[in-house]
Amino acid sequence: MPISTPAFLYGTAWKEDRTPALTELALRTGFRGIDTANQRRHYFEAGVGEGLAAAYRTGLVTRDDLFLQTKFTYQGGQDHRLPYDPAADLATQVAQSMASSLEHLASDHVDSYVLHGPASGRGWSGADAEVWSAMVRERDAGRTRLLGVSNVSLRHLEQMAGTGAELPAFVQNRCFARLGWDRDVRAFCAAHRVIYQGFSLLTANPEVFRDRLVAEIARRERATMPQVVFKFALAMGMLPLTGTSDAEHMTQDLASSELTLSPDEVRAIEAISG
Ligand SMILES: NC(=O)c1ccc[n+]([C@@H]2O[C@H](COP(=O)([O-])OP(=O)(O)OC[C@H]3O[C@@H](n4cnc5c(N)ncnc54)[C@H](OP(=O)(O)O)[C@@H]3O)[C@@H](O)[C@H]2O)c1
Repeated sequence: MPISTPAFLYGTAWKEDRTPALTELALRTGFRGIDTANQRRHYFEAGVGEGLAAAYRTGLVTRDDLFLQTKFTYQGGQDHRLPYDPAADLATQVAQSMASSLEHLASDHVDSYVLHGPASGRGWSGADAEVWSAMVRERDAGRTRLLGVSNVSLRHLEQMAGTGAELPAFVQNRCFARLGWDRDVRAFCAAHRVIYQGFSLLTANPEVFRDRLVAEIARRERATMPQVVFKFALAMGMLPLTGTSDAEHMTQDLASSELTLSPDEVRAIEAISG
């Protein structure tokens, strides 16, 4: 049985040799959603696979308990360690990158396959349309359950929709409080039943950690300010990511769902700086 989307994702970027142990620790702490990418420059996807294998071996989880998400990254976002032949056409690169991901993760499918970023910041291009069609074919062949796009603007999404393309199940974006927590993109997602995945919720938003209301809520809830931010994200209907390397923070991040925020508090945090 395919599992549903978890409420929180554990992000595996920038962990290098610690990737296997931290992936396993995240699973032991209770995360069931793992985010990675076949982009060796920032991720060690094979290391994620090692962490999963260790968790399977000890009987902690089975593949069916997990939501595994990985990404296709254009050559411009990669270093020399490419998971595809750069001379091949884009559709072939997608197929090769997916095959390599499935090998790294020792699975016959992932749960979500994400276009790491469009080819250009200016708009949805012909190259993006070609890659997206290849990703749809991967989905139709059963190698991913769902599809997503990342690092997109409202313009990208509107242009993508304008081509008549199938819309993604997920948008994964850096979530800046000063842009109303990515208000425009979130509104598009809400209107089209797309799940918004927010990353850099802590690191992109230093002003939130100077906010008196957030500090007051943290005191009242006997919680930390990062937990208030994650609870806010959950209350807004986001699927948050955390990439913490700290065991206690892993526990705290998952436990943030237990905090209570009133609708007025959610509205006030939403308006902090946007
Ligand atoms: N699509 C993309 O282009 C893209 C880009 C960036 C990231 N991502 C994904 O998103 C994931 C998360 O990345 P991120 O940018 O959000 O940053 P991050 O790697 O999660 O870093 C968050 C920072 O917050 C700290 N932190 C986490 N929980 C905390 C807590 N409860 N209390 C105090 N500090 C806490 C962490 O420190 P400690 O380690 O000390 O806890 C870390 O310094 C990545 O691993 C990756 O999977 C995707």
